[in-house]
Order: sequence, then C-alpha cells, then structure tokens
Amino acid sequence: MNLLSAKNLSHTFEYQLFSNVSLELQAKESIAIIGTSGSGKSTLLNILSTLLKPIEGSVSIFGEDVLKMSKKRLAQIKRDELGLVFQSHYLFKGFSALENLEVAAMLSNQNIDDELLKKLNILEAINQKVTELSGGQQQRVSIARVLTKKPRILFVDEPTGNLDKSTANDVMNIFFEYIDKNNAGMILVTHDEELAHRCHKVYRVHNKELEVLK
Ligand SMILES: Nc1ncnc2c1ncn2[C@@H]1O[C@H](COP(=O)(O)OP(=O)(O)OP(=O)(O)O)[C@@H](O)[C@H]1O
Ligand SMILES: [Mg+2]
Repeated sequence: MNLLSAKNLSHTFEYQLFSNVSLELQAKESIAIIGTSGSGKSTLLNILSTLLKPIEGSVSIFGEDVLKMSKKRLAQIKRDELGLVFQSHYLFKGFSALENLEVAAMLSNQNIDDELLKKLNILEAINQKVTELSGGQQQRVSIARVLTKKPRILFVDEPTGNLDKSTANDVMNIFFEYIDKNNAGMILVTHDEELAHRCHKVYRVHNKELEVLK
C-alpha cells in the first residue's frame, strides 16, 4: 500500500535547495535521506510531513493530495497518522515523562505500551520531570510519545544524535520493528551512513537533487 508519494518537489530559501525531488513510501518500508549539513534534508522532511509547503510539486498521503485536503482532514491526519521525531523534542517541560506519554495516549485514544518503555530503557526515569532527564533520555521519551499514538508514517530527523552507539542501535531496532508490525513506513534523515543502509531505500541530497544510492 502506498503511504506517501512526492512529485517534483522544489524548495528555495535564500538560494535553491533542491528541485525535481520525487519519492514513494510503501507500507513496511523505510527510506533514508543523507547529505551534507545545510543541503536541505530537514527542509525536505518538513515538506514531506506537511509542515512546510513546497515552492513547486506535490505531496500525497494515502493517495490524497495534501494541498487539496480540507483543513479538518489535514489536522486529523497530522494528529492520528503522522509521527514526527525531530531534532528538538517538544516535550512538555513542566510534566514528568509519564505525563507526557499520558497526554499522547489520551489524544489518540491509545494505551501506553509498557513493553515499549522497557525496550527504550526509560521505565526507571518515567516519573521524573522532563527537565531532570538527560538529553538522550528526553530523546527516548519523545520517541515513546510519538510511537504511543500509533502513527502510520514516521518522519525521523537524526533520532540518535544524542545517543551512544549501542543505545542508538536499540532505538533504531524499535523503529524498524514498529513499522513492520504496524504496517507503517518511515522516512529517516541521518548523517550515519551505516544506519542509512539499514533502510530499504537510500537517497542523498546532492547538487540540489535527490540521488538514488540504494
Ligand atoms: N525557515 C527557514 N528560513 C530561511 N532559511 C532556512 C529556513 N530553514 C532552513 N533554511 C536554510 O536552508 C538550508 C538547509 O537547511 P536544512 O535545515 O534543511 O539543512 P539540513 O540538510 O537538515 O542540515 P543539517 O544536516 O545541518 O541538519 C540552510 O542553509 C538553512 O539556513
Ligand atoms: Mg537537519
């Protein structure tokens, strides 16, 4: 099943970042996007995840053109179907880790998955305030929060930046297992080429285009 399809995207800020970018994401599939710092990877992820409108081109989610969706439908898709794990975490700072997860569970009518918390190794810290957690713990809580809502498409920007190699590996295994089990898909931006090659498809933003590496 096709989850997302992008056609001929281009975007420009001060200068043109990329043009003619097209890709397709199927259920149970993962896509990695690599490229040098400043090449436009996060910008592309923002466009694919409907946060930013491209200057040209279109993005369809479940076959529906994002630009043609009603505001209500787009809001519903964002709330229920899209999971964003970005470079900054956006956890509620005054709350504990658990309270952050409870909010996500309540908004999406899902249950908190204790098994997931165990796998992410955050059970011990679950009652601590977000501000008392280490950067890596905050990152894992934000991953737990996103997965708690059971999204169909994950958009993940440098998820393992704050983590040591072994924790990073565990976290990535959780994402790969998640998409497989839930018939979901993932678009991952990373500087880690080894990690990128664990994905089904690998692209590189280079010379203002999207090159196919795998
Ligand atoms: N909202 C914005 N307004 C103006 N320029 C922007 C904006 N967002 C990004 N840019 C510029 O677009 C370029 C690409 O930024 P982007 O964040 O997409 O790069 P990136 O490939 O994700 O880099 P990194 O690997 O460092 O995260 C940068 O030069 C950045 O300054
Ligand atoms: Mg970036």
